[in-house]
Amino acid sequence: MELRRVEELMDLLHACRGARGTACLGGAPVDLHDHALQTAALLRRSRPADKELQVAGLVHPIGHLLRPGDPTGHADLTADAVRPLLGERVAGLVRLHRESPDNRISEDVLILRQADESARTAGLDAGVLEDWRTVLELVSARHTRLGAVD
Ligand SMILES: [Fe+2]
Repeated sequence: MELRRVEELMDLLHACRGARGTACLGGAPVDLHDHALQTAALLRRSRPADKELQVAGLVHPIGHLLRPGDPTGHADLTADAVRPLLGERVAGLVRLHRESPDNRISEDVLILRQADESARTAGLDAGVLEDWRTVLELVSARHTRLGAVD
């Protein structure tokens, strides 16, 4: 599956509300919607200028929704889904955030991984998804002509 519009991505992220995942977490199940928002918020705090890194954190759990119960393939699946919309760098960050050995990852992936680990606080208010629409459109517009004219 490939996402072509920010709206499709927003729908998927909304659908994460109430979905619980453990696959990329390795701990207690968390609400995937909260997990997405908390990961993105942590990255916005640590790397305020890097919108692509923040967006990678936001979208990284959607693979759990695309193919529930497939923990091994979820990172690749998510990367393939977001690549046409958000570009190669975001897809690469998502793909590597769990699967790669520590000695082969970049500092960006390490920061994403740390945010992913920390973003598991039940009930912590990390804003609302709508706050991210403009950022998603900005990143998307850099990578797709579709995004630029929408
Ligand atoms: Fe995660």
